[in-house]
Amino acid sequence: MCGIIGVACGRGAFSKPLGSIIKEALKQLEYRGYDSVGYAVIGESLILRKAAGKLDDVAGKLNFEGVDGFVGMGHTRWATHGSPNDINAHPHSDCTGRIVVAHNGIVQNYLELKEWLIKKGHIFRSETDTEVIPHLIEELKSRGMTTLDALRRTVKTLRGTFAILVLDLDEPNKIFFARYVSPLIIGVGEGVNFIASDIPAFLKHTNRVLVLKDGELGYVSQKTVYVEHVERGVVDVSRRIRIIDWTPSMAMKGGYPHFMLKEIHEQPMALRTTINGFDESLDKAAEMIMEANNVFIAACGTSYHAALVGEYALAKLAGRLAHPFIASEYTKYLNAIDENDLLIAVSQSGETIDTLMAVRKFKGRGARVIAVSNVVDSAIPRDSDLPIYTKAGPEIGVAATKTFTTQVAVLLELSYRLGLKTGRLTKSEYLDLHRELTMVPKVVSSVIRRYEGHCKELGRRLKPITSMYYLSRGVGVPVAMEGALKLKEISYIHAEAYPAGESKHGPIALIERGFPTMFLAFRDEYMEAILGNVMEMKARGAYTIGLVPEDSSKLIEKLDYPLKMPYLTPYAASIVYVVPLQLIAYYASVERGLDPDKPRNLAKTVTVE
Ligand code: F6R
Repeated sequence: MCGIIGVACGRGAFSKPLGSIIKEALKQLEYRGYDSVGYAVIGESLILRKAAGKLDDVAGKLNFEGVDGFVGMGHTRWATHGSPNDINAHPHSDCTGRIVVAHNGIVQNYLELKEWLIKKGHIFRSETDTEVIPHLIEELKSRGMTTLDALRRTVKTLRGTFAILVLDLDEPNKIFFARYVSPLIIGVGEGVNFIASDIPAFLKHTNRVLVLKDGELGYVSQKTVYVEHVERGVVDVSRRIRIIDWTPSMAMKGGYPHFMLKEIHEQPMALRTTINGFDESLDKAAEMIMEANNVFIAACGTSYHAALVGEYALAKLAGRLAHPFIASEYTKYLNAIDENDLLIAVSQSGETIDTLMAVRKFKGRGARVIAVSNVVDSAIPRDSDLPIYTKAGPEIGVAATKTFTTQVAVLLELSYRLGLKTGRLTKSEYLDLHRELTMVPKVVSSVIRRYEGHCKELGRRLKPITSMYYLSRGVGVPVAMEGALKLKEISYIHAEAYPAGESKHGPIALIERGFPTMFLAFRDEYMEAILGNVMEMKARGAYTIGLVPEDSSKLIEKLDYPLKMPYLTPYAASIVYVVPLQLIAYYASVERGLDPDKPRNLAKTVTVE
């Protein structure tokens, strides 16, 4: 986590001071962490300023607007080592204050390095793991190395994950960098180069990007990009520069009060673009599934819920069993994996460390890997045998919304195609399901139009509650899990999802008068059973809300607050039903006076294990 940005621009490249450019870039990276902010700029001298707090709160204190120079870097932090205070904020400097470092990742062996450096006389100021990096470079330079040599040696010494930016007053026109696991992308501009954790940081200035690979290091200056591999020497990157088709406005709020609301509303477009972009990679993926002995699906958080929908559709429609698992638990399967097995890794960012580790370990056992991701060339698709991309556009709100629904769309179409290939679906059944999927963007639009007001009202009603259940059956269970996660993470209301049948095995003990319970009923074999579960909850005083098919009059009659959903198969419904749940969570958060884009303790991309 953490967001880093470096800008090498020379003098006069921008109409505003470099500090302002860095501040704007950090604004686009704040979703990666917002515990503290800092920057360092080299102009007449090296200026380093940092403070705990969110960018908007500390920008004045740090005087971004008043600082100019020809190279600079900024950092927005998600604290790992050391509490989020001013001293632990990045950048960190060496003893002399001439070398400064911003870092995203974790230096696992920092304690032993710190001890060694202290013995050599280095003075540490912070509790962070990062601070060993400038001191190591300082130490190595004192033995006659250049900054680049010292950085290379440092990279070889560090264990863990890192994206590092270094400014050194001895080479004041360059921003040195190194990448291992944590993302780092160069933005190649005209007379100005950028280097950042994510593309939106510099998209306003250039759409020419170079995604760095693990083990690469080098420097950017105003006109130069130099890259080498830590073991293999100089790398020719000229053919790796790509043009990104995201526009800057895609990464801005566009009149919405929050990114999350904008991204909920963007779902029809995101789904349409993803569905229109389906290509032969889905057929290849279906073939890989057919050839595999065992199929696993690894993901975290929201992506795991999409994986569960995928598992359901693969089993029901293609007769193919897949084992979904939370990526950080990957070790439990490792001994059982060999080259006949297949892993499907689902990760919107493509950088989540737990999912990346699962991919690497499965690959290490010889398994093949399919990645479903929203970020082209990110680590997980890059490490996979077959990347499949959702086309949701940049997602800035910390809570995943449009990336979830587009992931589900991909996994559904994959299951449909596999069903056709395995003969579980006839051609006409396949075509019906596919056609329905292409209608989903429109249905999502109409559900938003029809129910946003109701969701706002529900958000208001939920404001004072402390706990809530989400119950469903079948493919509705992962959708209920996603609804509960959304509510929990942005409104801080405790929310749990269960298969409705399981509620009687413990959870029902919490039900008392007014306890809110959300039911999701789909047009499937579980409708009668869900009605029974609604009655059980009502009998104990629960306040029952439900998303139910519009013709399920018995359910509609019994629920305290029914929202009638359009006529759909449970598969398409798994996309459509989640949208009101996102809106309810959003409005509950706003009602509680919270910032849904920046939930406490969370970061958009989790790059630490
Ligand atoms: C929840 C959320 C997280 C992510 C999880 C995985 O709203 O966003 O639970 O889904 O951290 O992230 P990716 O999909 O980037 O691997």
